[in-house]
This record gives sequence, C-alpha cells and structure tokens, in this order.
Amino acid sequence: MRAVLGALALLGGLLGATLGIGCEKPAPPREEAPALLFDTRRPYDRELEVFKKAGGDPTQAFRPQNLGDLTKLEPGKLFTYVVLPTSVLVLSPIPTPAVVTSSTPSWTHPILAGGGAVLAAGSLRLEKHGDKLTKVIVDGDSDAYCPTSEALRSTLAALVGLGVPRDLLRVDHRPSSDCLVGPAAAASSAAAKVSFGTVMVSVARRFEVGGKAVLAKRWELARYQIEEIGETFTNELPAAALPPLPPGVSLTAFEKLMVGRDVPALEKAIDSHDLPAIEKAYATMSTTCNACHTAAGKAFIEVPSKLGETAPRL
Ligand code: HEC
Repeated sequence: MRAVLGALALLGGLLGATLGIGCEKPAPPREEAPALLFDTRRPYDRELEVFKKAGGDPTQAFRPQNLGDLTKLEPGKLFTYVVLPTSVLVLSPIPTPAVVTSSTPSWTHPILAGGGAVLAAGSLRLEKHGDKLTKVIVDGDSDAYCPTSEALRSTLAALVGLGVPRDLLRVDHRPSSDCLVGPAAAASSAAAKVSFGTVMVSVARRFEVGGKAVLAKRWELARYQIEEIGETFTNELPAAALPPLPPGVSLTAFEKLMVGRDVPALEKAIDSHDLPAIEKAYATMSTTCNACHTAAGKAFIEVPSKLGETAPRL
C-alpha cells in the first residue's frame, strides 16, 4: 500500500512538473520554426573585386518598398533577386544581360546579399498588360546559393509583404543542374546523358527549316519547328551534359530567354503571317543563340539572322 501511494505521489509530482513546464514554455508557434538559410558556395571576396573592377556599386541594388516600386521593373526581363534573412527583397537594378562580359558588372546573388546568407535567391520576371501587373514569376535558380524549392516560400512571402496580390504570383520550378553534388549528381550523370551538342544539332536544323518554311509560306510547318525548339529547351537541354564552360559562366539565363521570350514571340509572329514581324523575331532569336555560344566560348558557331540561311553559317 505504501509503495503504491509512493508511486502515485511520484506520478503526481511528475505530472505536475510536466504541466508546469508546459505552462512556462508553450510550444513555439509554427511561424517561429527556424528559417531556412543558405550560404553562398562561391568565394565572395573575389566576386566583389570583379564586380567593382567592372564599375559596379553594390549600394545601387534595388530594394522595392511597395508594389509601386516593384512595378517599375521592365516587364518580360529577368532580374536576379535575393531575400535577406530579414525577409527584405533585394533585386538587381538592371535586367540580367543577354551577354555577360567582364566589362559590365554582373549582379550575382552573392553581390546582392553582400556575401551573407539568404532565405532565397533566384530570378524574378514581371508580366504586364499595359500598365497593369498581371503576373510576378519567380524561380530559385541560383548556382551560388542552390536554394531548395521550399525557399521560394520566403520569396512569395516577401512579395506579398510588398503588396503583390497573391493570385498574380507564379513559381517557375527549374532546379539548377549546377547545384547537384554527391549522390544526386552521380545519379543524374549515371542516366547516360545526351550531349548538349547533339541536342543543338536538332535545334539548328529546326531553326533553319523553320526559316525556310516561312519563306515558303508553310505556316503550320514553320510554327511546328519553333514549338519543337521550345520543347527541346524545356525538356531535353536541362538534362543534357554541358560541355566544359569558361570559369564562372552559366547558360541558364539564355535558356530562359529562349523559352520565356524568343520562342513565344516567334510563334506569335508566325501566327500573324506578318513577314516583317517574323523576320524581326527570327533575328532576335538568333541573337540569343549567338550570345549563348559566345558565353560558352564557342562564338565560331554562328547562327544566321536571316530566314532561309543555313544554320550554322558556313
Ligand atoms: C543556352 C545556350 C545556347 C543557346 C540559347 C543556343 N545554343 Fe547552340 N550551342 C550551345 C552550346 C554550349 C554548344 C556547344 C555544345 C558542345 O560543345 O557540346 C552549342 C552548339 C550549337 C551548334 C553546333 C552543334 C554541333 O555539335 O555541331 C549549333 C549548330 C547550334 N548550337 C545552333 C543553335 C541555334 C540555331 C540556336 C538558337 C535557335 C542555339 N544554338 C541556341 C549553347 C546554346
């Protein structure tokens, strides 16, 4: 009996202690769960030095305070962004240039973040109809920070904080292959990758045939070839094995220009059967092709800007 009472008392004491702790320290609310912070994988000092040498000034980064500020960004262009640990959104003041050269400062994610940790990093693009904002599209594409897709929640939260209506927010999920390491990279390379060059041969053929089809007024055929180029850039190229690139070069901005801007513009022009508009959109696309080849150290692969010419130019 005594033993039982003793045990009961002990139990009571334990219960009381548990409850007591429960009262003093309530379980932390969900939003206080630790934030996901990402560190840069590149040495910042060197990056800053290169940036400053090219005339860059990190204090010129764009920190929109409200929706009005954000809406000033040029629609259709990609801007790099980071979300600082304070949830502040910092953007490049200029769109990501099509051609990255050493004489123009490159607004990389570490530059925007001052080399520190971030909640998210990637690219942002606006769509507008006249003056009206219709979409804000974000991704987590940063080969310096390699954020997980979960990090995009911080980006969306920062945008909502600036007053962006939730229904205008879109996520473009494109995991950067440059970020894969260890087993993930091994798995992705184990699946016998097709080479970039092999895929490019089909892109070039479609570009050339598309141009010739326009001249022959074979609209459906032309449209089909350009659609296929879009699909190749979306599905096949991200999985293809990149050739060795010059140090610090990433080609993802060009892939995005092709898919996000050039392919839709050329398709639209073909649908209109308006030859000058098609010529213009075709030439614009060839500029992106060539800019990417130049960035990849293969400027000798020249893509012609005129309909009907052989691609590559001989
Ligand atoms: C995202 C960057 C990028 C874009 C955009 C791009 N290319 Fe390429 N292209 C490459 C790279 C990199 C190579 C070299 C591949 C290699 O060395 O394996 C290449 C190679 C080529 C080749 C040579 C293929 C061979 O091995 O014979 C042709 C032709 C070509 N591209 C045409 C085009 C055309 C046409 C376009 C536009 C419609 C285009 N490319 C857009 C990156 C790009």
